[in-house]
Amino acid sequence: MTTNSISKKYMLFYINSVKDMNAWAFELPELKLENVSAYLGDKQIVKNFSARISDGELHVLMGPNGSGKTTLVKAIAGHRAYRLEGKVLLDNENISNLETNKKALKGLAIALQEPPSLEGVRVGEVLIKIAKKFRRLNDMEVSKFVKDVLNVVGLDSDVLSKYYMAEFSGGEKRKLELAKVLIMNPKVAILDEPDSGVDIDSIPRIASTVSKLLSAGSSVLLITHQFSLFDYLRPKRVHIMISGEKVLESSPDIIDELEKEGYKVVKKYGDRK
Ligand SMILES: Nc1ncnc2c1ncn2[C@@H]1O[C@H](COP(=O)(O)OP(=O)(O)OP(=O)(O)O)[C@@H](O)[C@H]1O
Ligand SMILES: [Mg+2]
Repeated sequence: MTTNSISKKYMLFYINSVKDMNAWAFELPELKLENVSAYLGDKQIVKNFSARISDGELHVLMGPNGSGKTTLVKAIAGHRAYRLEGKVLLDNENISNLETNKKALKGLAIALQEPPSLEGVRVGEVLIKIAKKFRRLNDMEVSKFVKDVLNVVGLDSDVLSKYYMAEFSGGEKRKLELAKVLIMNPKVAILDEPDSGVDIDSIPRIASTVSKLLSAGSSVLLITHQFSLFDYLRPKRVHIMISGEKVLESSPDIIDELEKEGYKVVKKYGDRK
C-alpha cells in the first residue's frame, strides 16, 4: 500500500468519524409525526398519521381532494378548530401542545393553503417584524433583506404597502406565505400547496424557493397536486393519504406511475407504509 492510499483511507475514516460525532453531538433538524390524528368536533378526519422528515430532506404528501392533508397541517399548526392526538416531535422535543407562535420559535414554519387576512396590517410591518425576530437583523439590514426575499418568490416590493393577504390574489397569497417561511429560516417547513393557483411561469420559481429552503438546511414537507414541480424537485419520500389515512410511503420512483394512473396505483403496492 502506498503512503498516498494509506492517507486517503485515514482521511475517509476521519471524515466518517467526524460525521458520526456530529450526528451524536448535534440533533439534525427532524420532524417526527407519531400516530397523529385530527378531529373536528367528534369527527375524526386524520387517522394515525406517522412520518419522519429529517436532515434537510424533502418529503411530499399527496392525496385526493378532501383526504385530510390540510386538516393534518392545521392540527399540527395548532389551529383551534381541530383537536390533535398523537405526537409532533421537533428534534425529539414533543411540541404537540405548544401554541402556534411557540412552535414557530422552536423552528417549525407552516405555509397555509388558505392563510388568514390581516385587515389594516401592512405586509411590510409583518415581514419586517418576522425578519427581526427570526433573523436578528437590524433596521438598516432588514428592509433590503425583506425586498430580496420578495424578489426570490416573485413578488414586487410594491406589495409591502398592501394589507397582509387581504389585497392579494390566490397566487400572490401562496407567494407571500412562501416569503414568510423563507424569512423564518425554519428547521422544518410544511408547505400546503404553495403552487395552487399559481401561474405556469411561476412554477419554477416556487420550486427554486423550495430548493433554497432545503439548501439552507430546512427539512420540508410539501403538499402538492402539481406533478410539474417534480421536473425541478426530487423528494426523498412520497407519502400518500386517502380518506384520512396514510396508505403508502414510497421512494420517488412512484411519481411517474402516479401521474399516469392516479391513486389507484396505491392498490398495486398494498400496505407498504
Ligand atoms: N372546518 C371544517 N368544516 C367542515 N368540514 C371540514 C372542515 N375542515 C375539514 N373538513 C372536512 O375534512 C375533510 C378533509 O379536508 P382537507 O381540507 O383536510 O382536505 P385536503 O386533503 O387538504 O384536500 P385538498 O386537496 O382539496 O386541499 C373534507 O371532507 C372536509 O370537508
Ligand atoms: Mg388541502
